[in-house]
Amino acid sequence: LSTIEVDLAPIEPGQAIKVKWQGKPVFVRNRTADELKAVDAVDVKSLRDPQSDDQRVKPEHKNWLVTMGVCTHLGCVPLGAAEGETRGEFGGYFCPCHGSHYDASGRIRKGPAPKNLEVPEYAFLSPTSIKIG
Ligand code: FES
Repeated sequence: LSTIEVDLAPIEPGQAIKVKWQGKPVFVRNRTADELKAVDAVDVKSLRDPQSDDQRVKPEHKNWLVTMGVCTHLGCVPLGAAEGETRGEFGGYFCPCHGSHYDASGRIRKGPAPKNLEVPEYAFLSPTSIKIG
């Protein structure tokens, strides 16, 4: 399928899920108010791949983060989108292959990955559903 729809209603604040789109994992995450505060507090200029959180999300649905679940180092699938998995030192995602830590905006913060987790094309169909692709 070139596009998929994802129902956001079951995803609680603080939870993330992994879906498949075009054979690749995509992470969809409902961020908490504390996580939003933390990602906005980061000095963008200090980042390896400088992007503000607002450049990575739809500002009118800021709690939702949608990224590819593909590490930008060598393509492993990071941890952090399933219950009980580590989210790394920056509370986002952690790639166990060579130790890349991403924050709750999917931005690379530590480890060998050169880029932030890619944000796929997506759009909100309603406040509780998105179309990816
Ligand atoms: Fe993720 Fe190397 S593939 S750190």
